[in-house]
Amino acid sequence: MPDTAFNMKSYEEELKSFSWEISKKELGYKDGDLINIGWYCSDRICNMGKGEKLALIWESFKGEEKRYTFNDMRVLTNSIAVYLRKLGIKPGERVCLFMDKIPELYFGFLGGLKMGAIVQPLFSAFGSESLFTRLDDAQTTAIITQKKHLPKVRNILEQLPSLQYVIVVDDDGSKPLREKEYAFHMAQEERIEEFEIYPSKAETPSVLHYTSGTTGKPKGAQHVHYSLISQYITSKYVLDLKEDDIYWCTADPGWVTGTSYGIIGPWSNGMTQCVSEMGFMAESWYKFMERHKVTVWYSAPTAIRSLMKEGNEIVKKHDLSSLRHLASVGEPLNAEAVLWSQEVFGKMFHDTYWQTETGCIVVSNYPGMKIKPGSMGKPFPGIEATIVDLKTFLPLNKTGVVGMIALKPGWPSMIRSYWNNEVIYQGKFKNGWYLCGDRGSIDDDGYFWFVGRDDDVINTAGHLVGPFEIESALIEHPAVAESAAVGKPDPVNMEVVKAFITLKKGFEPSKDLELKIMNFVRKKLSALAMPQEVEFVETLPKTRSGKIMRRVLRAQEWGEEIGDISTLENDM
Ligand code: PRX
Repeated sequence: MPDTAFNMKSYEEELKSFSWEISKKELGYKDGDLINIGWYCSDRICNMGKGEKLALIWESFKGEEKRYTFNDMRVLTNSIAVYLRKLGIKPGERVCLFMDKIPELYFGFLGGLKMGAIVQPLFSAFGSESLFTRLDDAQTTAIITQKKHLPKVRNILEQLPSLQYVIVVDDDGSKPLREKEYAFHMAQEERIEEFEIYPSKAETPSVLHYTSGTTGKPKGAQHVHYSLISQYITSKYVLDLKEDDIYWCTADPGWVTGTSYGIIGPWSNGMTQCVSEMGFMAESWYKFMERHKVTVWYSAPTAIRSLMKEGNEIVKKHDLSSLRHLASVGEPLNAEAVLWSQEVFGKMFHDTYWQTETGCIVVSNYPGMKIKPGSMGKPFPGIEATIVDLKTFLPLNKTGVVGMIALKPGWPSMIRSYWNNEVIYQGKFKNGWYLCGDRGSIDDDGYFWFVGRDDDVINTAGHLVGPFEIESALIEHPAVAESAAVGKPDPVNMEVVKAFITLKKGFEPSKDLELKIMNFVRKKLSALAMPQEVEFVETLPKTRSGKIMRRVLRAQEWGEEIGDISTLENDM
């Protein structure tokens, strides 16, 4: 029997009556109270009598399984908090989490918050250079990592005077640790039953997520503990999480989806989550969901398209009847993928739209609401969204016209600034609206449709990659004079990185040189940011002031109209 008793009874009704007070009331929070995400995700759930409920079912690459109850999680996060505090880390200092998807990553996140640190999760796939940029910008005090990632940290440690503690969670003593390196074994630590949680308040900084823009280095998006108010209720209403659910969020916590909806939202709702260390593999994913009887699955379009590629037969080999709600985020979810999921899983993927900066889902398809495949759905109740004119930034108030997606500020999980970059942050607001930097339109029924990004950021497999970082790495190669990185179409990842390069005098284009350049940047960039193709060109299109016009190169790759270049030139 289909379950029609959704947490959000009716979108239309909710629009009339919703207020963030509902979330606060359910969480037992009143304005001015202390609020600590670490406490809300573990201690509070135990206080509600659910200490013995499973919080995490975790599987390693090898299929080894570990299970943790909410009480285990409460105690282990206490142990981590005590360890960090004893080491000398102070509230407000940045603690980077640089690990694969292992329990220490999840518990380190909550433990760090419990002792008042600002947690800074970073993809373990990052190379030394990407890591350095982010640790240097945040002036990070400590990094928690694994043995296998330690060499990348050692490479840059000397250049990072503020980085005082390198904590290794799986040191086996086979090789001596060096100065500033500490071994920490979660399972062997003293179980701390009582911990005095840092008295954070609504505006106390919590999480620092790095996100890429067109220019400059990646920016640290500064979240606060109050974000919980949005993350709790959107998890409940959009992901429809219920007491007996087994929830699987495929995102890595290096990405905001993996924290807002892979840690904070589900655990503050007292949900059982499963986590797998493995990357994408169709057969293993289906087996994983079958084994754990996953009921709610939150994933991303690239993964869905990859599953589509593997075909329908493989799906039929598995019993996936437990699945009751599917959602997706990160890139445009094409109508074909939505229809395919209906065909093979008997359920449509519900597209959700949001950003690192928004902290929570802001536009979405809701359980029970009619889905228009290809549309992102409607604004979450409590969030006012519109489309503004691309030049005046005033609401268009017209349907079917493309403009920029904009939100009225004021929901709890909006970031409070970019780390050390208030000017760029303030630049995102115009006429009282927060500009998302994405183009879209609204149809006659109030559904939002995504058109594309309004800047040069490349969205590859749902991950934003700034051209600046790639170009900076490329021009460090002795043969490269100038470079421009743009996205080119890809059937699975939506976009992949293509680099255009002009060479310095004395260098000739060749396959060999291309390989050398690729190998050179591979050490500096994460796999996602790696160019999939290099094209040597004589010159790059530029504005009169000398700025590279990536837009022209991008349009070429996508077979689109280049647009009015003269205006662009005059604009500079
Ligand atoms: O361009 C939009 C795209 O991803 C951007 C936000 O990326 P990030 O800050 O890394 O956060 C991603 C996870 C929340 C957006 O500005 N994006 C996100 N969701 C969608 C999307 N594009 C189209 N459809 C979506 N549902």
